[in-house]
Amino acid sequence: MDKKEVVIATTNQGKLKEFKRMLEPLGFKVSSLADEKVEIDVEETGKTFEENSLIKACCIHAKLPNKIIIADDSGLEVHALGGFPGIYSARFMEGQPYPLKRQAIIDRLKDKEDRSANFTSAISLIGFDEEEHVFVGKTFGFIANESSGDSGFGYDPIFFSPDLQKTFGQASPEEKDSVSHRGRALKQLEEYIKAHLD
Ligand code: IMP
Repeated sequence: MDKKEVVIATTNQGKLKEFKRMLEPLGFKVSSLADEKVEIDVEETGKTFEENSLIKACCIHAKLPNKIIIADDSGLEVHALGGFPGIYSARFMEGQPYPLKRQAIIDRLKDKEDRSANFTSAISLIGFDEEEHVFVGKTFGFIANESSGDSGFGYDPIFFSPDLQKTFGQASPEEKDSVSHRGRALKQLEEYIKAHLD
């Protein structure tokens, strides 16, 4: 098997785009579930990002046993809301457009002084070697008073990054990748893969 061919276990186009732009320059051939004609019909029953990430990766690995599978479970954790929406970031107000979901987070912080938040990404790797791996990356910031910028996806326009001095919605793809939760988790995955390639 070519160790550099990976399938990303997601239907989220925003995530897929980020994985492609980070993994392709490293020499990986990245395919999506659509490319593989596989549907993800997995219930996220885990209580943590790590558990849900492994659940997704295992489910796809069972369908594509000869491929290297990478899955990501990620979300926004708002500290004054006890870490909400956390693992429910995609399911919170499901079916509603992101502008409304972002506004709902801003509204919930109306009377709160603490606007700190972080994104977490748990990236699983299965089928590369005999082990199952999970790499976790985090990035810290603040929930802005209003949405700014239209880059990225999901909650990016309300996440102000002190590292970048702008919201992820205002950041270029390269800027976001350099400090993002997913960029940081991928860096660890990349180091692991590089250290273990034959
Ligand atoms: P998952 O697909 O179940 O892992 O849900 C991830 C959800 O978390 C996304 O649909 C977004 O709502 C949110 N999220 C995760 N990563 C990001 C990001 O990089 N930017 C903005 N929102 C994100």
